[in-house]
Amino acid sequence: MNYTVVLPAAGSGKRMKADKNKLLLELFDKPIFIYTLEVFQRDLNCEAIWLAVKEEERELIEDFVKEYGITKVAGFAVGGAERQDSVRACLDMIPECDVVLVHDAARPFIDAEVISRLAEEASDSGAAIAGVRVKDTIKKAESGFITETVEREKLWIIQTPQAFRYALIKEAATEAFEAGFLGTDEAMLVERLGHPVKIVESNYENVKMTTPDDLIYGKAILESRRQ
Ligand code: CTP
Ligand code: MG
Repeated sequence: MNYTVVLPAAGSGKRMKADKNKLLLELFDKPIFIYTLEVFQRDLNCEAIWLAVKEEERELIEDFVKEYGITKVAGFAVGGAERQDSVRACLDMIPECDVVLVHDAARPFIDAEVISRLAEEASDSGAAIAGVRVKDTIKKAESGFITETVEREKLWIIQTPQAFRYALIKEAATEAFEAGFLGTDEAMLVERLGHPVKIVESNYENVKMTTPDDLIYGKAILESRRQ
């Protein structure tokens, strides 16, 4: 199933504690976001890539895109204050298509097989998101004491990509904007409309580069893939 991908890349990476947007940090010899772009450049089902970037980083990012031969980038949107604003800025620009995939530029290790299943599921049922099963025991606590042990079998750690039929994500984003609703992912905007969202089991390597320790893990993943 063909799709258009929207990549929010307009964050600042505060939790990474670097002196610049974490996406520009290098894993070995390449900026993090280039690894992400290369996955979609290689995937034959990916028709176009749209990036949300900060105005002041656009030129730099565009230069990298050219240097690494990422020819599928169809356009840049100016990112907003929140991730959801950055995604919406892209959604406002993309031409109509069948399936839209939203993926954090900060998740460089996404695998093509998961992308393919997401696009298929979104085409069939409207909305599909990547997730992995929780491995640890999860408890709720208040004032330092346990109030509940949550049933693990029902818990999922949600990732991106999140894939949607074009019309559904457009409607959900518009509704959320008009209602002033801020979600932590795109699926929440679709859930608000009462539309079912399918989980596609992903893998643990699809980690988001968020804190400095993630860089160590990221390098280890790259090394293991080189062997
Ligand atoms: N993002 C964005 N626009 C924002 C905030 C985030 O496009 N206003 C993007 C980031 O660049 C990243 C993705 O959304 O690719 C996931 O967000 P996150 O991991 O939270 O990145 P940052 O917001 O940059 O990091 P932090 O929250 O630590 O500041
Ligand atoms: Mg953030």
